[in-house]
Amino acid sequence: MVNRKSSNRKLIVAIDGYSSCGKSTIAKALAKYANATYVDTGAMYRAIALYALRNRLETDEAVVHSLDRIQVGFVRVDGAQHVTLNGEDVEGQIRTLEVGNAASRISAIREVRAFLVAQQRAMGEQGSIVMDGRDIGTVVFPNADLKLFLTARPEIRAQRRFDELVAKGESPVYEDVLADVNDRDYRDTHRAESPLRQAEDAIVVDNSELTPEGQMELIIRLYEKTLNTKH
Ligand code: DC
Repeated sequence: MVNRKSSNRKLIVAIDGYSSCGKSTIAKALAKYANATYVDTGAMYRAIALYALRNRLETDEAVVHSLDRIQVGFVRVDGAQHVTLNGEDVEGQIRTLEVGNAASRISAIREVRAFLVAQQRAMGEQGSIVMDGRDIGTVVFPNADLKLFLTARPEIRAQRRFDELVAKGESPVYEDVLADVNDRDYRDTHRAESPLRQAEDAIVVDNSELTPEGQMELIIRLYEKTLNTKH
């Protein structure tokens, strides 16, 4: 895939959607194509969740009181983006089921969201950005130039997640993985604070039947169209 020529036009792309539907893969590839910065906001929630687990913060109040001792950032390591927690590269520790479940819990806390949303908006001041998460097109950047809402059928997402776990040497039970996908969807869409929902002006991309290449082509087409119409 060729990168688009550098452009001095600043563009914000918001990618939201359900868990395990390939948001980060597509966001990373689009950021590369567009010479934009990629920001994985899920990793920021996961970093705070890791802090809460390590420090046994069992109540929402305890998490909120710790926010002024938490710094979340990003570093580049071998061309990839790693999330940092108080300066420590924690990328290798945040992708577990335990941290994912804790992230789902702490991401429902209003103060935690306000803390991270402010940082995410500041990142958008710097230059072109492709940000993925759950509330990017609705809350973080309601004026984003392009909003994509990614989705795929739960059974398909569960199968992809199942295959990833098998590839990691684990022995998951498909029905458990599917139940986990459905639980996560329910929590993400039913929490009081910034529930996952599609922005009215978002373009829905259902990738249940799309190949990764087909999806990328479609998204590049949408990006190019945005670039041509916005400027
Ligand atoms: O995308 P992910 O699985 O890494 O996200 C981890 C958790 O954080 C997930 O439960 C949803 C939540 N999250 C959120 O509430 N808002 C975001 N912008 C990104 C993630």
